[in-house]
Amino acid sequence: MKAKADMNCVGKTFCAFILLTIAVAMVPMDNIRVSKIAGSSVNLTCGDISRADLVSIVWKIRPRTGNHCALAYRMDLNKTDRTNCSERMDWKSSPETDSALWIRQVTLTEEGCYICETATSGGNLHRTYTLTVLVPPEVTLTCDSNGTAVCKAAAGKPGAQVSWDPNGDPRTELENHTDGTVTVLSMYSSKETSITCLVSHPAWNTTQSKECPSDMFLQCFAICAGLLGIFFILVFIFFCKLHCGSIYQTDVTHLWRTEHDCPTAPTHNVQDSNEQQELEPYASYVQKENVIYNTVYEVTVSEDLPPGLQSAT
Ligand SMILES: *[C@@H]1O[C@H](CO)[C@@H](O)[C@H](O)[C@H]1NC(C)=O
Ligand SMILES: *[C@@H]1O[C@H](CO)[C@@H](O)[C@H](O)[C@H]1NC(C)=O
Ligand SMILES: *[C@@H]1O[C@H](CO)[C@@H](O)[C@H](O)[C@H]1NC(C)=O
Ligand SMILES: *[C@@H]1O[C@H](CO)[C@@H](O)[C@H](O)[C@H]1NC(C)=O
Ligand SMILES: *[C@@H]1O[C@H](CO)[C@@H](O)[C@H](O)[C@H]1NC(C)=O
Ligand SMILES: *[C@@H]1O[C@H](CO)[C@@H](O)[C@H](O)[C@H]1NC(C)=O
Repeated sequence: MKAKADMNCVGKTFCAFILLTIAVAMVPMDNIRVSKIAGSSVNLTCGDISRADLVSIVWKIRPRTGNHCALAYRMDLNKTDRTNCSERMDWKSSPETDSALWIRQVTLTEEGCYICETATSGGNLHRTYTLTVLVPPEVTLTCDSNGTAVCKAAAGKPGAQVSWDPNGDPRTELENHTDGTVTVLSMYSSKETSITCLVSHPAWNTTQSKECPSDMFLQCFAICAGLLGIFFILVFIFFCKLHCGSIYQTDVTHLWRTEHDCPTAPTHNVQDSNEQQELEPYASYVQKENVIYNTVYEVTVSEDLPPGLQSAT
């Protein structure tokens, strides 16, 4: 008798446990998680409900931050109502044909719970969504000549995962912003010639990578620039020599002409005669000018003479 009662109790407990497990398992099943990238559009549906049985639909919106809002529709009155809902939130189309909720451009303020409550002649139904907004971070990489690189994934939600190639032991700093976004700073020192920062985030389907310009490249660049500079200096010297060389040659011929003991090449003779021809008209001009100057002088002298002497000249 006692054993039977115990068995009964165990059976009841077991049943209660099963029911509780099912109930617990049912709750997350009912809560649908939706992740959307900031700026994208979202449509949340209430599930398949027969239009004929429908009495009313209410969307209860409970953002993580900010005011609650609601959108309601009553079939019998064909009437819609809304309280406090942002303009970006509305029925996808007319609620009498489609009970889906449409959020045009999700932002972090739209994060939270979205509950669709439908009353039908057969009973009430509700469906709950948890909306999470993903914000892709802005990735920047700064590299210094010491081989230290700082990779920054700014204002991402959730915080980005930063790794390095080659794999190392970076120093990571997190900065939590009030809007829920996180800035991740990863500092890495390496003796390698090239280092790459790899950033992964749920808002992207691929890993973004940024590479530091390698020291090898910088060294090559410096060497190339140096060689180019030397080349230009050589070219300059060459042209200078070419130009200055001709001046030097004429100087030498002058020297040879004054010092008469040098053997005279035929080319120099030609040059000499040319120079003499060039010089001779100049010499005659100088002589003529002297004559003019002399006559002018004589005239002035004659003018300065006392009137008695003028007739003598
Ligand atoms: C949501 O519904 C609207 C209106 O029908 C449509 O323009 C938009 O593309 C839909 N968005 C998504 C993500 O399906
Ligand atoms: C609407 O917002 C106001 C504040 O702006 C708040 O007092 C009120 O309770 C909100 N109404 C609902 C239905 O959430
Ligand atoms: C319900 O109201 C909308 C306008 O709010 C109207 O276009 C529509 O025809 C109405 N439907 C019925 C069945 O009266
Ligand atoms: C490079 O390292 C030296 C010493 O290790 C330091 O004094 C210098 O400031 C560093 N340069 C840069 C650009 O970080
Ligand atoms: C930022 O938030 C994370 C948890 O989300 C926490 O572990 C970390 O210590 C916070 N960092 C700062 C600087 O507050
Ligand atoms: C990643 O996303 C881009 C558009 O953002 C798309 O074109 C591409 O096919 C996607 N790749 C994968 C593997 O999903």
